Amino acid sequence: MRQWTRREVLKSGVAVSAGIKSAIPAMAATLPRQAVAAAQPGGNPSSTRERLLLDFGWRFHLGHACDPAQDFGYGGDGVFSKSGELFEPSYLKFDDSKWRAIDLPHDWAVELQFENDPGVVNHGFKPLDRSYPATSIGWYRRVFEISETDLGKRLSIEFDGVFRDCMVALNGHFLGRNMSGYAPFSYDVTDFLNYGAQNILVVRVDATQGEGWFYEGAGIYRHVWLLKTDPLHIAHWGTFVQSRVHAAAATVTISTEVENQGAERRTINLVSRIVDKNANVVATVETHSMWVDPGTSLTLVTETEVQHPLLWSFEGPNLYRVAGTVQDAYSGRTTDQHATTFGIRTIEFDPNEGFFLNGKPVKIKGTCNHQDHAGVGSALPDRIQYYRIEKLKEMGVNGYRTSHNPPTPELLDACDELGMLVMDETRRMSSDSEALSDLEKLVRRDRNHPSVILWSLANEEPEQGTARAARIVASMKRLVQRLDPSRPVTTAMDDAWGQGVSAIVDVQGFNYKHGKQIDDFHRRFPKQPTIGTEVGSTVSTRGIYANDKEKGYVSAYDVNFPEWAATAEEWWKIYAERRFLSGGFVWTGFDYRGEPTPYGWPCINSHFGIMDTCGFPKDNYYYYQAWWSDKQVLHLFPHWNWPGKEGQEIDVWCHSNLEKVELFLNGASLGVKEVPRNSHLAWKVSYKPGTLEARGYKGGQQALVARRETTGEAAKILLRPDRPQFQADGQDVSLVEVQVLDKEGRIVPVADNEIVFQLSGPAKIIGVGNGDPSSHEPDKAQKRRAFNGLCMVIVQSAKEPGEIRLEASSPGLEPATLAIASVKTTLRPAVA
Ligand code: GAL
Repeated sequence: MRQWTRREVLKSGVAVSAGIKSAIPAMAATLPRQAVAAAQPGGNPSSTRERLLLDFGWRFHLGHACDPAQDFGYGGDGVFSKSGELFEPSYLKFDDSKWRAIDLPHDWAVELQFENDPGVVNHGFKPLDRSYPATSIGWYRRVFEISETDLGKRLSIEFDGVFRDCMVALNGHFLGRNMSGYAPFSYDVTDFLNYGAQNILVVRVDATQGEGWFYEGAGIYRHVWLLKTDPLHIAHWGTFVQSRVHAAAATVTISTEVENQGAERRTINLVSRIVDKNANVVATVETHSMWVDPGTSLTLVTETEVQHPLLWSFEGPNLYRVAGTVQDAYSGRTTDQHATTFGIRTIEFDPNEGFFLNGKPVKIKGTCNHQDHAGVGSALPDRIQYYRIEKLKEMGVNGYRTSHNPPTPELLDACDELGMLVMDETRRMSSDSEALSDLEKLVRRDRNHPSVILWSLANEEPEQGTARAARIVASMKRLVQRLDPSRPVTTAMDDAWGQGVSAIVDVQGFNYKHGKQIDDFHRRFPKQPTIGTEVGSTVSTRGIYANDKEKGYVSAYDVNFPEWAATAEEWWKIYAERRFLSGGFVWTGFDYRGEPTPYGWPCINSHFGIMDTCGFPKDNYYYYQAWWSDKQVLHLFPHWNWPGKEGQEIDVWCHSNLEKVELFLNGASLGVKEVPRNSHLAWKVSYKPGTLEARGYKGGQQALVARRETTGEAAKILLRPDRPQFQADGQDVSLVEVQVLDKEGRIVPVADNEIVFQLSGPAKIIGVGNGDPSSHEPDKAQKRRAFNGLCMVIVQSAKEPGEIRLEASSPGLEPATLAIASVKTTLRPAVA
């Protein structure tokens, strides 16, 4: 590979022009990124790249971790003896009619029954490991045609993530093995394809060994793509865009790696256009007549100016694209077109003043998250990534830590588009070749996302304070800086601050141990910026107001936490008072499967979430919303259905950012209280059924009223979709909140009625949930019990448009019906 700097390019007499403004048709800008290239003017679609979604039409079957007879021969004799004969299911004549038809993304772990076995507690009690050989291996098979006209192109298959340890074969030829369940990987399949005929792709996935200490799913749980390019093309993750903002302009540096996989030396022109969100070309850079030898690549680094750039920020997450065009310099033929999304913004971590975005101080109000969701496990359709980021933003969150692994690419798209800062984390702290390769892929894949502000190289490593760990992290940091000099690195440390890796990282991370240790560190190392990489770990169950070990529930008042952790109020006060701290990431935004704390079985998921696994808010959500968002908040709890507790004292809390709150029970005032900053209000109220009311005041005026009323019996169902319309692309989903109401229309806060769903029209139910951390009901079902008045059903579109009707019924309740319009738009990914 040859590296060309801008100076060398200029010296070699190549023309570099900047700032030429023209417009390209709006269509090119609004198409999804995988279809952009083919639609742009000046390109011959048949000769430029196509990126096709390979998610549909797979077959799936469980294998066996120790019996070859039940594992399609794997583990028996001769599996690797001859090329072209790997895996029985690779044969065309193999009968897969007993294999289940599935579409990706797919997580088979979420389909398994729960096992009350402490050995699989971290898998959320799903039977995955050596003791469960019959449920720990999964086989995937996909038959697809490749046209004869593709002969001569380069084709590759890209996997965004497979959990875990998978082997991939195409037409019986071994393509490779990938270990980490979080690292993307791709294979050039040009040589192995049958052109003008059928091809068989087989993936054997071995999830007997987990990677983390939390639920991780099992299977091909992210997208798979088929990429077709001319042999002369922009390399995979080969574009890197950096910008420097100065006065009213930004200098944009575009590095483009062009790869020649053909047999001859080629001479190329590269045109890079910067396109704004309205499809205007705001700058163009051209590089002419550079040669690329066969089997090599050439990296061209060019620079241009964007005048009056629209910066990427929370208020306006403005994005640009670099549309790169590779031309054969002699024929003028376009051989590749590829668009890369980026944003123009500045970031800075200051040891005394904290974090700055575009020169403005921003306290990072973040959450850490794992990647599973109710109903679907780790196999999230893209829309659920957006749903989760939207929910966090509504709460006032501006930061997301991808703990403890590289995220799904679409999560970062959501963060870019919606305005959310990201601390992007690798899985393993190591400088072994596999860990460095995974880290390299993470940085190359994610470095154009403006949302990403910090690379995280480790979490709570036992050796973090040692010289050995310092050497390892130094090697990792060198790699990161070579690939991306624009962002700092951190590690999430829970001990030994000031030792070991502390001296290597740019930003010192603190997990827990709030207050004193942080102040001590700041005093001893005044030049090192600091951040709370993990804070909180408060535990609570939605709608529960007393701890119940037997049921595995924890009260939702902000009072429960394990010994290393803190309440929301405790950690946030510490961080809010210290300007030098860049902010913190709460453990966690959403509940996740596995790591049930403080109780084990029957509890199968964590209680750390500010929201439950469905994204339904717990009461602490409103604490954060009050002190993190600019909304006026007045949230009163608990509910007011306490039959049998008449005359007993109930703890009544209020989360609010107003100035004063007056509490009333059945019209009688229980007094006015001033709201303490970053805190809450509490009363002891002798229970009497009726209406508990809080009136919140600001500037002497009543601003908000919140009520809790003793409800009647459950009487009817209400369905509330996140969106009443979705795309008929076989991927989009509607997340429908199901409420159980009394006859006055109030949510019955203790209702646990079982709701049965019926669907008609071109769609299917892909999962149900209710946020109950101890529910052992299946996620893949047409029914679900409400948990404290709520449950969720996730409806996915088919590829045909039409009207969808969802009916929800339950004995004794008035049923509900919901119409969802499934529509075809041009925003469809191309499909293989
Ligand atoms: C941290 C750890 C997290 C999670 C959390 C629970 O120490 O980094 O992954 O286990 O504790 O409080």
